[in-house]
Amino acid sequence: MTNYKSVTAFAPASVANVGCGFDIMGFAVQGIGDTVTVTLQPDSDNSEITLTGTYGHLTPTERSKNTAGVAINAYLQAIGKSDIGLNITLQKNMPLGSGMGSSAASSAAAVYAVNHLLGSPLSTKELIPFTMEGERVACGSAHADNVAPALLGGFVLIRSYDPLDIISVKGPDDLFAAVVHPHIELNTSDSRRVLNKEVSVADAIIQSANTAGFMVALIKSDYELMKRSMSDLLAEPRRTQLIPGYDAIKNAAMEAGAIGCGIAGSGPSIFALCKGETTAKQVAKIIRDGFTNIGLFNEGYVSQLNAPGTVIIDSVE
Ligand code: HSE
Repeated sequence: MTNYKSVTAFAPASVANVGCGFDIMGFAVQGIGDTVTVTLQPDSDNSEITLTGTYGHLTPTERSKNTAGVAINAYLQAIGKSDIGLNITLQKNMPLGSGMGSSAASSAAAVYAVNHLLGSPLSTKELIPFTMEGERVACGSAHADNVAPALLGGFVLIRSYDPLDIISVKGPDDLFAAVVHPHIELNTSDSRRVLNKEVSVADAIIQSANTAGFMVALIKSDYELMKRSMSDLLAEPRRTQLIPGYDAIKNAAMEAGAIGCGIAGSGPSIFALCKGETTAKQVAKIIRDGFTNIGLFNEGYVSQLNAPGTVIIDSVE
């Protein structure tokens, strides 16, 4: 039996890939995210979600098509409570197709809220597969590199998808991210379509060496190694064509002191890792200026890499 009638959870934005870890690395971003309220409602017909927030009108109301609803459906089915009556309200604050884990924030907040409502039968880590179903409906691919950091917070490595093996890694406290979202929409499914389907052994060697280098750098706070490792042969070379001004903006961010700079998830947002909050703020401004100079409105965020994951912000007993 539950102790609650209603629970509200907030899940943060996230940056996936982190330069050299396509589909296997991500971190949470403080300062923006989605909020979901679930309320026990025995006579609810369970088919619609109430949408509020800046981007609510752009999100499907049908529970079977909305990432929040899909994640909740998968969760309830897994725990044998599909028939439970629920009202779901999604406050959609995150822009769609931003590269900042918008769909992940919705599904993470949704399952976290409903799990809490039902007395937390599953751990936060056990919720990840249900949020991945949200990603599948959003873009056709059930990647975990946004949902895992959105739920768990901080930096996350997905060592394996089958079986799922997810590892949280605490980064240095003075490691910050600058994340800038230009006002263009890029669907993850389109961004995945431009990728090469095959990778040469030579490229696989370079990519896995950089991924390993990045992990060592994170654990040892070795920023020079991090800088050498933040290079991507899988996604960035194919996706830069989709982001106006990308090469010049990345160069400017590196000249302004970024450790590394790349495409946030599937883009169009750009992220940079920086030592210290002051540098991260300067780099965020440089990236923002780069987009502004080519006529693109944008928003910037600065977040510690060890940012919080999904949290309960309200509950009614
Ligand atoms: N790893 C995914 C991709 C993240 O790059 O397609 C999407 O945000």
